[in-house]
Order: sequence, then C-alpha cells, then structure tokens
Amino acid sequence: MSESKRPKINPFWAVVITVGIILFLVEWIIPAVSRQVTGLPFPLTVPRALLFIYMVLTLVALFLFVTFSDENLNAFWRPIRRFLRGDFGKNARNVVVVIVPLLVTWWVFDMKMPKLEPPISLRIQHPSSNFPKSFEDLKNPYAEPSETDVETFIEEARSGDVSFIPQLTADLDLWRDMNSDAHVLTAINTGPVREFMADIEDGNVDHEIARLALIEKNLFEGRALYAMNCRACHGDSVAGDGPMADGFKLRPINFTDNGTLETIVEGYTFWRVTNGGPGLPTEATPWDSAMPEWKLSLSEEQRWKIILAEYDLAQKTPRIPESE
Ligand code: HEC
Repeated sequence: MSESKRPKINPFWAVVITVGIILFLVEWIIPAVSRQVTGLPFPLTVPRALLFIYMVLTLVALFLFVTFSDENLNAFWRPIRRFLRGDFGKNARNVVVVIVPLLVTWWVFDMKMPKLEPPISLRIQHPSSNFPKSFEDLKNPYAEPSETDVETFIEEARSGDVSFIPQLTADLDLWRDMNSDAHVLTAINTGPVREFMADIEDGNVDHEIARLALIEKNLFEGRALYAMNCRACHGDSVAGDGPMADGFKLRPINFTDNGTLETIVEGYTFWRVTNGGPGLPTEATPWDSAMPEWKLSLSEEQRWKIILAEYDLAQKTPRIPESE
C-alpha cells in the first residue's frame, strides 16, 4: 500500500472545522443568499428545526467518518489525550477541566430549574397613554358626507364621470368594457344606488337618496380597500381569521367581537389604523402587534373609507365620544 504524501488533517480538527462550516452556512450564508434572491431588506429566517436536522445529519456523518477505521479513531482521540495529559500546558488543561463541568452544571440547572416568575402583566389592548386626544373627537367624514360632497356627487353622477379611489380604476374600466359602457355607478348594485340612478334618469334628484347613495359608494370603495389590504389578517368575515392570522402570536383583532370596535371611538380606530403596531406604547406588549402602519401606504381618505367598511362588515357602530 502506498502511503499518500499529502499532509493529513487530524480527524479531530476535521470534525471541529466541519461543524463550524455547517453552522456558518446555515446561520449566515443561507440568510445572506436569501436576501440576494428575494431582494427584501431582511433575510429569510432559517427555522431552528432545520438547523437541528442539519446538525444531527452532520454529526452522524462525522461519527461514521471517525469510527470508519481504528486508525481514524485513534487519530481522533490523540489530540484529546495529549491535551488531557497536559502536553499543551497544564494550566490550560486545568482551566478547561474546571470550566466545562461548571458550564454543563449551569446549563442543566438553568434548563431544569422551575421558573417561578410572576405571570407577565396582562396586556392592555387599548392603551390610552399615547393616544393623542386630538383624535378622540374625529368623525368619519365619509359616514356623514357634507352638503357640498352630496352636491358634487350628484354633478358627477349626472355627467357619468364619478371619481373613485385610484386602486379601483383598472377594475372599473374593465367592468365598463364588459358592460357596454354602462354608467359606472350601476356597478354598485344596492338599493340606495339603484334609487339614485332612477332619480338621475328622471332628472329629479332627491337629496337624501343622493346622500345615502354616496355613503354606499364610499362603502364600496372601503370594502375593496379592505379586501386588498386587511383581509389577509382580519379575514373575509372580519373575524380576525384571515389566511395569515395563525402566523401571529397576537392574533389580528376579531371585529365582530363585542369587546373590540364597539368599545372604542372612531377617532381611536383611525389612530390605530394610522399608526399600527409600531405606534403602540409599551403597555401594549409583551406581544408585539403585527398590525402595519397604514399611514405609510394609504391616504387619510382611504383609511377612513376602510374604517367605514370595517364597521359595516362587522355590523358594529363606533362608541360615541363622551362630551365634557
Ligand atoms: C399583518 C396582519 C394585519 C394586517 C394586514 C392588518 N392588521 Fe389590523 N391588526 C393586526 C393585529 C395583529 C392587531 C392587534 C391585535 C391587538 O392589538 O390586540 C390588529 C389590530 C387592528 C385594529 C385595532 C382594533 C382594536 O380594537 O384596537 C384595527 C382597527 C385594525 N387592526 C384594522 C385594520 C385595517 C383597517 C387593516 C387594513 C388596512 C388592517 N387592520 C390590516 C394585524 C393586521
């Protein structure tokens, strides 16, 4: 048998280096590559279970490698034996011999020691400490349209050119194409709008009917925005059971629950939607709310319209602000 001249790396160090490389790959390289691939500003997390499986597989492979021959096994033990004999310095050995059992003791103790901490304080769902009082008396302008809003709406309906939120433009254009350019308001097929359209055709518009139709139109936009932005978490049925809801420790709010939307004034709901989880003070922890900060992506008008739809879908009415 010809002995290879290549300097062989000792199996002990081969094991240490391999474990190091695998850990480095899973902990740093995969997240870094995932950032490159997704282009997101944060890495995708590698689940702990995956790390565990990789490490177990690595250790099994290394065990096979080390125990493959007596020669390998002996070589593996050699640096350990030399270390214990004190070949690398007696002090270094003594320190390690003391520290390793201490670390293991501490680790086992920490794991097994019953934790007698008092329960974490109850989470305050509706913290009031940083809720700006200026929001308290805000009214939803789209639930109570002003005279001028109603007049403008009637004008727009007459000319057939009703303005909608930009998110709906593409869908409404498509709808017009498919409905031989029918009046866009007939896309909202509800009682008040049908009555209003009949009035428009007669040329004799009842102001109250126009007002109700305008609220219907605002609701229509609000529902569409809800479906686009909130449904994934708060659900079709606004019961906090959207497809993403299970992913959060602090579940998205169930708006049909009596303890939620009905207990707060509209202005508070607006503030919550505007500032989301990041706007909450520390009383609202220990679990952080995943609720996004909607002022970053929706205009004030759009936020109010969603809130209108939200109360409507949940069949709730906002709490009335207390007068002083
Ligand atoms: C990523 C998931 C997610 C999305 C998307 C989301 N929410 Fe939330 N929402 C939450 C979570 C989580 C909470 C917090 C639960 C808590 O504070 O107890 C919450 C709370 C709320 C609350 C507070 C209710 C209360 O009683 O204080 C309102 C209002 C609300 N969301 C409205 C909306 C609206 C409107 C949208 C869409 C524009 C939306 N949410 C989109 C997750 C989400």
